[in-house]
Amino acid sequence: MATLPRPLEGRVALVTGAATGIGRATALALAAAGARVAVAHHRQDDLACKVTGHIVDAGGLALAFDADVTRTSEVEDMVQAAESALGPLDIAVHCAGVIQERAFLETTDEDWDFVVGVDLKGVFTCCRAVLSRMAPRGRGSVINVASELGFLGRAQYAPYCAAKAGVIGLTRSLAREFAPAIRVNGIAPGPIDTPMLSLDNMSPDVLEMERAIPAARVGRPEEVAAAAVFLASDAASFFYGQILGPNGGAFMGG
Ligand SMILES: NC(=O)c1ccc[n+]([C@@H]2O[C@H](COP(=O)([O-])OP(=O)(O)OC[C@H]3O[C@@H](n4cnc5c(N)ncnc54)[C@H](O)[C@@H]3O)[C@@H](O)[C@H]2O)c1
Repeated sequence: MATLPRPLEGRVALVTGAATGIGRATALALAAAGARVAVAHHRQDDLACKVTGHIVDAGGLALAFDADVTRTSEVEDMVQAAESALGPLDIAVHCAGVIQERAFLETTDEDWDFVVGVDLKGVFTCCRAVLSRMAPRGRGSVINVASELGFLGRAQYAPYCAAKAGVIGLTRSLAREFAPAIRVNGIAPGPIDTPMLSLDNMSPDVLEMERAIPAARVGRPEEVAAAAVFLASDAASFFYGQILGPNGGAFMGG
């Protein structure tokens, strides 16, 4: 029987938002590619342990770590604990995020702080924690999950779109600052069937809008995870500051 390629054999990866959705699929895919995985989550012990359980059952190594990405001290402790348990991080994929639909003129300071806090500051705190460790070692791959909406914008989603556009700018700045030793890239998915955008809860109108793209369907978390595995691997050795777009053709630019 042919064995599957394991391009990340011996590497250590951390994935935030890894209890559900794209983060979960990414943690599983990185482990299948050979990485030991820190499954980072926030107050989702049961779901995170299911993810680590899957990985361990498949012969891999994974541990769950709880941290609120908006809190610097929790992120620092999490990264420290992950490295103590699994070894120096080679890969970090930042998937933790929230979304909120609200008319702009009804958006409060609290709404803004909540969405931008998780979606942009959360990526900042995690990037700082992992890059401060990767930089002295002179190696690493960091992948930040943005959104096609960071390019396109969407009515009723201004804080989310602003935060995701910020993630793209942050990613490209860090790509320049930490090159050539460390590669920092991003992924800007289109509509993906996850708890954030669940096909089960979608109204027919929204489903029709999300499917009105060249692929004529909503994507699967595994289709985003594949981009993360590629960016984490040596196959992406010439990729710096790129924002890959698993989006079914919803956006063809950037
Ligand atoms: N689903 C889509 O259509 C889509 C499209 C483009 C981009 N994205 C992005 O992909 C990423 C993953 O989203 P998803 O679709 O898998 O949804 P999801 O809701 O399944 O995943 C988001 C995860 O972030 C975690 N999280 C939220 N706040 C946190 C905090 N303060 N600290 C730590 N973790 C926190 C949640 O617990 C959850 O596990 C997000 O950044 C999202 O914006 C999703």
